Amino acid sequence: MAQFTRISGSVGLITLKNPPVNALSAVVRHGIVDTVQRALSDPQVKSLVICGQNGIFCGGADIKEFGTNITGPPLIPMIHSIEAANKPVVAAIEGSAFGGGLELALGCHYRIAHSKAKLGLTEVTLGLLPAAGGSQRLPRLIGVPAALNLITTGRHITAAEALQLGVVDQVADHNTVDAAVKFALSVAGQSLDARRISNIQCPPVPDVDALFEDVMQKVRQTARGAIAPVACVQAVRAAATLPYTQGMQREQELMATLFTSGQARSLQYCFFAQRVVGRWSMPSGARWDTTKSRPINKAAVIGLGTMGRGITVALAQTGLSVVAVETHEKQFIEAKQAVSGMLERGAKRRGTAPPHDKITYSQNLQAVADVDLVIEAVFEDMALKKKVFRQLSAICKPNAFLCSNTSTLNVDEIASETRHPELVVGMHFFAPAHVMKLLEVVYGQRSSPEAVAVAMQLGKKMGKVSVAVGNCRGFVGNRMLKPYRDQAYFLLEEGATPELIDAALEEFGFAMGAFKVYDLSGLDVGWRVRKEEGLVQPGGASRIRQGHRYSPLGDLLCEQGRFGQKTGRGWYQYDKPGSRDARPDPWLHGFLEEYRARHGLVARRISSNEVLERCLYAMINEGFRILEDGIAAGPEDIDIIYVFGYGWPRHRGGPMFYANMVGLQIVQERLEHYAQAHPDVPTLQPCSLLRRLVASGCPPINKWREVIKKVHSQL
Ligand code: NAI
Repeated sequence: MAQFTRISGSVGLITLKNPPVNALSAVVRHGIVDTVQRALSDPQVKSLVICGQNGIFCGGADIKEFGTNITGPPLIPMIHSIEAANKPVVAAIEGSAFGGGLELALGCHYRIAHSKAKLGLTEVTLGLLPAAGGSQRLPRLIGVPAALNLITTGRHITAAEALQLGVVDQVADHNTVDAAVKFALSVAGQSLDARRISNIQCPPVPDVDALFEDVMQKVRQTARGAIAPVACVQAVRAAATLPYTQGMQREQELMATLFTSGQARSLQYCFFAQRVVGRWSMPSGARWDTTKSRPINKAAVIGLGTMGRGITVALAQTGLSVVAVETHEKQFIEAKQAVSGMLERGAKRRGTAPPHDKITYSQNLQAVADVDLVIEAVFEDMALKKKVFRQLSAICKPNAFLCSNTSTLNVDEIASETRHPELVVGMHFFAPAHVMKLLEVVYGQRSSPEAVAVAMQLGKKMGKVSVAVGNCRGFVGNRMLKPYRDQAYFLLEEGATPELIDAALEEFGFAMGAFKVYDLSGLDVGWRVRKEEGLVQPGGASRIRQGHRYSPLGDLLCEQGRFGQKTGRGWYQYDKPGSRDARPDPWLHGFLEEYRARHGLVARRISSNEVLERCLYAMINEGFRILEDGIAAGPEDIDIIYVFGYGWPRHRGGPMFYANMVGLQIVQERLEHYAQAHPDVPTLQPCSLLRRLVASGCPPINKWREVIKKVHSQL
């Protein structure tokens, strides 16, 4: 709702009330329309201030209403009537003004923001565009280039940047509503013609066509198939080239196509999935978000390689004291330098001081004796991890939480080396750990709800999206990656090239194709693991391991010293070691031909559709097995892991949501088709949960949990 009060004699104060973020629900819109009308017809009111209760202006439209029959006064005429008011209306922006919230503020004649407020036209992140006049007003207010930047990215800006761009007129350090009231008093009676943004024209741009061509090209490149950023550019173009009313028409047309698109549904699903993931409960029924967590003030990181360095930086940036331990002299010296550099760069970006003093470096494990929590990031070697955990258990406080950043190993086995296995969990970060948003928190059989809660909350404090997962080889993310990568290898054997496969995956929307990712992360990493597992045979003579199809292609490349970007050669060639510009390599094509000839394989033409179906459906099938095994609590958990940790295009919702969109029956049929063609690849056999869902009429994704529960109760 919205409340109207008259203060300071002649200022009408309208307060939006809809916790938690004062979203513009039908009731709130009703409230605004009523209160504005009352204020305008009250002769004692000379000017108006609109604010939100509890220090938040407005978080935007009420997403819960999307796709429902709930109706109320539409936003556009409501904002128009505010703009057309003959008394000045001032928006007092505290907390946040996002999406429709900022569009409402743009309909006001003046905007005053608190110095800590955040503003943004965030609609694009939900697959939409600012369609309550935002795409038409913002460019008129701040110019086309700046508006394009904000609208196509949906990024949040600070009050300081908003002031500099001209989005707001004033920034207040203290009570924003008071400042707005004072301001409203001072402008009462003044002409509003120049303050009605829809009346003004966009500041002229020298060569509109060239500007938009250039922007469109860039946006298409970064959008990776997302249609909303492209529609945003088209809407802003309308603002720059058409009169306001025609621009508004264009805005509405573009919005109509976006609103009903699968992409908007996928993005809105991701928005809600993130919340569902935050409410996870353990199979025991204990909920981490309601379990009492202990505060962590001092943490330790063991092993300052790629991961340990990033984790140290992320912890220090959170404000924690960190003891960083590395036993190898050369690594120790390099790591100190690297961490300092990362802190400096981070601080520069944020405009803060680098938190060097938060970190104490040591080459001795004894230095962790008084920490509350340890994150181990030594080599991926079970014997070594066990040894480190035995030592930690003896050195650390008895109630210290001991976490491992292992990416695949058995957390229970690691925990069994400690005196308090209930305090052990996996904290699986992603590289680079100070940048990547995902954290898989792995609970073992004996992990206590408190330990899970502590790891989840620490992750949240570090700005991560934390997802709790069960313990199995590769957990959720890496476990699903295996069948996907296997298919990519098999397709090479059957006639594809890395370029063809990567192009198909990138066209689908992945940030990088499978082979580019291999080259980036290093082919030797997997090679070492496969060697340990006894899978590697020198020369790659056989293509069968343990009765199943196995491609030795990756092993053969490693034997040639082709480890990817770091050696300048991998699935692609690079100008020099460390370079990132992947170029097709004729040597590799020859190598593939020779390999096929040696194994009697006849190359055939492979379509991008087959690449997608085989790689993605094999991965999705594993996702269903993960749900069946109770490793992930629900499809949302898997999807959030893939969107935040594996470059899955958000506008496709995540692998499980994608399967739901394609249709489970189709996924099952295609898997059956490929399983028949490749009987030696068991991961292509549709798993029983998928069959069960299809047999129960392919329920929508939000009903899967019920079927999963039934499957579990029958086990
Ligand atoms: P890395 O090889 O870059 O670093 C490991 C570091 O641990 C080295 O500096 C080594 O000197 C140090 N170390 C070895 N034994 C030690 C001990 N007893 N005490 C203190 N330091 C010791 O390895 P990376 O890539 O950082 O991986 C570390 C862990 O993180 C592994 O378990 C890996 O599976 C996992 N991980 C790796 C990811 C990646 O992309 N590199 C992603 C997610 C997890």
